[in-house]
Amino acid sequence: MQTAAQPRMSDTHVVILAAGRGTRMKSADPKVLHRAAGFSLIEHVLRAADTIAPATTVVVVGHMADRVKETLGKRLGLAFAVQEVQLGTGHALLQAESHLAGKSGTVVLLSGDVPLLRPATLRALLETHTSRKAAATVLTARVDRPQGYGRIVREPASEAGRGRIAAIVEDRDTTPAEREIDEINSGIYAFALEPLFAALKSIGAANAQGEYYLPDLVKIYRDRGLAVETVILEDSREILGVNSRRELADVAAIMRATKNDELMASGVTLIDPGSAWIGPDVTIGADTIVHPNVYLEGRTRIGSGCEIHAGVRVIDSTIDDGVVINNYCVIAESHIASGARLGPFAHIRPQSDVGEGAHVGNFTELKKTTLGKGSKANHLSYLGDTTVGEKVNIGAGVITCNYDGVRKQQTVIEDGAFVGSDTQLIAPVTVGRGAYIGTGTTVRENVPPGALAVSAGKQRNIEGWVEKKRKQKP
Ligand code: UD1
Ligand code: CA
Repeated sequence: MQTAAQPRMSDTHVVILAAGRGTRMKSADPKVLHRAAGFSLIEHVLRAADTIAPATTVVVVGHMADRVKETLGKRLGLAFAVQEVQLGTGHALLQAESHLAGKSGTVVLLSGDVPLLRPATLRALLETHTSRKAAATVLTARVDRPQGYGRIVREPASEAGRGRIAAIVEDRDTTPAEREIDEINSGIYAFALEPLFAALKSIGAANAQGEYYLPDLVKIYRDRGLAVETVILEDSREILGVNSRRELADVAAIMRATKNDELMASGVTLIDPGSAWIGPDVTIGADTIVHPNVYLEGRTRIGSGCEIHAGVRVIDSTIDDGVVINNYCVIAESHIASGARLGPFAHIRPQSDVGEGAHVGNFTELKKTTLGKGSKANHLSYLGDTTVGEKVNIGAGVITCNYDGVRKQQTVIEDGAFVGSDTQLIAPVTVGRGAYIGTGTTVRENVPPGALAVSAGKQRNIEGWVEKKRKQKP
């Protein structure tokens, strides 16, 4: 049985620092809300944090706190701590104290502007921290250009290998010798909760920036004989921080290349990976071919053996196997069944469903419309709030007049119907099974199954009319 005295070591808490100004972004928006690969920077960090299933997640906000809180408000289970004045990273973490009071276990500290961190790295950090029973574990990396980062100062190397970490010295506070150190602080740590907040209060601000530096905890802990461990990253790109638009683009490019590499490894052809814009949550089946300048966003799922031609944009949609999407189609929140063909220039708006083997051709727009199996709407049509059955032929220029100025009305076109070109269907209206609508008909009333509907008047030909007109004096 667990008693109050036994700390539950499995408890992991996350604190994300996001109070800083982000001056170098030169933006009216908070830095952590800038987007890369379809998600805000802080959303990337939260997604990584979610993978370790923290008991508590605290975001420390300050600069434009309300904007950040409002944007993250939809996420459940987040707590916010406000750092009114940005006095440094040590001071920032201290603001989370009330949310963690009375809890035990480990605090993982992340930065809201370091979005490439992988779940596996977080697990490795926690694994080392827990197995070594450390008071603090620092994620570090060796880099070619350590300028700007805090340097990891180690004790002399022993026979057993690398010396233990002794301190972290911020770039601006380094001695010339320390400046040469190429091992840097990532700003990501695991801390045992128990000694943390008392120790944070003992950090001073006697440094080049007059700030309370969180990395100063390392020396404080070592002086007290507490265990401080390090985990050295394999790929230092993972801890790239975003401080400028340049770095935002760099980070987004890495995210995109990583996703594209995964897709290609799983059997997807990207004709030009450099111009394939595929969001992190998109899935694509093997043998699908993606042409240049294609955008696949949100929760889009694409089956296998599809071909997606240049200039297509798909948002939050499901596309089954063997679908061909010709150039410049836009598809949002819809389902396209296997073997269907779309475009070029088709617009599939939300809540549409294109059936198996159906065709939607150029300049055709669907909105809240179901197109049955094998049906075709190949040219210049608008179908809104419409249910089209199977094997229906929709001629060129057919328009559903679904809006009466007050509300949207439904059109139903049953199986096997033939709707002639340039027909207007004034909703609400139903065209029965197998009915035939003559070209240019304005359909105002339901058409019974098997009937022919025509509405145009009888054609008149006036012989010699043109000649007569020409002879008239101006
Ligand atoms: C920090 C580390 C440095 C490390 C580097 C890695 C310190 C003092 N230095 O430096 O050792 O190499 O990260 O990227 O920690 N923040 C607040 N409140 C504050 C100050 C900062 O919330 O008062 C937040 C920032 O919004 C940011 C994070 O803390 O998300 C890091 O702060 P930043 O000023 O960028 O620290 P660095 O100078 O990059
Ligand atoms: Ca930074």
